[in-house]
Amino acid sequence: MNVLKRSFYCMTLLSFAYFNIQCKGEKKGDNTSEEMPQSKKMVTISKAAFGVTADSVQVDSYTLKNQQGMEVQIITYGGIITSLKVPNKAGVIEDVVLGYPTLAQYEKSSPYFGALVGRYGNRIAKGKFSLDGTEYTLATNNGPNHLHGGEKGFDKVVWSAEVLDDEGALKLSYLSKDMEEGYPGNLKTIVTYTLTEDNALEVFYESTTDKKTIVNLTQHSYFNLSGDFSKTILDHEIMINADAFIPVDKTLIPTGELKEVANTPFDFRTAKPIGQDIDVENDQLKNGLGYDHCWVLNNQNQGIRLTATAFDKASGRFMEVFSDEPGIQLYTGNFLDGTLPSKQGGTYAYRTGFCLETQHYPDSPNQKEFPSVVLNPGETYKTKTSFKFSTK
Ligand code: BGC
Repeated sequence: MNVLKRSFYCMTLLSFAYFNIQCKGEKKGDNTSEEMPQSKKMVTISKAAFGVTADSVQVDSYTLKNQQGMEVQIITYGGIITSLKVPNKAGVIEDVVLGYPTLAQYEKSSPYFGALVGRYGNRIAKGKFSLDGTEYTLATNNGPNHLHGGEKGFDKVVWSAEVLDDEGALKLSYLSKDMEEGYPGNLKTIVTYTLTEDNALEVFYESTTDKKTIVNLTQHSYFNLSGDFSKTILDHEIMINADAFIPVDKTLIPTGELKEVANTPFDFRTAKPIGQDIDVENDQLKNGLGYDHCWVLNNQNQGIRLTATAFDKASGRFMEVFSDEPGIQLYTGNFLDGTLPSKQGGTYAYRTGFCLETQHYPDSPNQKEFPSVVLNPGETYKTKTSFKFSTK
């Protein structure tokens, strides 16, 4: 990870041009490099044109593939994971994330399918927050509130890409200018996607600013581990390692309370199907139209640890989510309504995908008791999440 430690200025000078993309041709058993773990150097990365945005910017796709056949396609528009292919228990490799085949569709309308979300993942009440007595106003793009970075958040910008061949990684960079979408400070962000040979997709986020600001980045993939997007995700068994969750009002802004999950439909400490309690009579489920809440993860300040798992019994696919974040949003596709076209044909119906978004809590800038999302000049925001796939 030495490359990540280089100063951002060097990176800016060196990397904002196109890179020579090489498909690594190392063969199994090639032991030319002692220090490079075999697991990393077997990953191949290829580049292709994906499309051109409405305002004429070229968008590329990068496909990372490991020796197990796991394959991830990421585009420079929004840093979107457009497909993620993993084996089922019979070894059949299928796509497990919702998305679109074309850039035009992502530009036209997407509920953040597979995207990098920033500067602030989740909601900020009334689109307002203050830092040192200065009030900032953001777009209110979700009812009365701000959601996922505003009108043109990190999900809708074109990132610069650099292939880190030796790491099996794709490094995306974006400079969000001072007051872009109403946020203070020039915020330089690097997101590095790494595919490992043990079928994990790691996402490492780093940001720096030149003015006090807020930041809360996340990844917004919609998973359907069955590989069949015409099926709902209600059978998927979810575990969330959290003793409490964050109740919200009708506009999905935290009330400020942290509520114990015990004896509520929000208790996922032991894995249970998403559909088991989703329709029970419960005010919080009414507010979210299902699960659309942030959980207060256990073992905070312990660095990366297991935060959640998802299991689809029929395919045998099992996903573990590791992160150093204090919270995780489980969103069960309650707003999918059969209007958006599926890449498998037809449309995405109600609850055919779920998101597990690692993050700080919603509306943290206005909730003094919540862990801070403030970033000062001279500090580096760093956070890591890993989605690891296996079968059982
Ligand atoms: C939010 C949902 C929202 C979805 C897509 C999720 O992160 O929690 O309320 O509908 O993103 O827009």
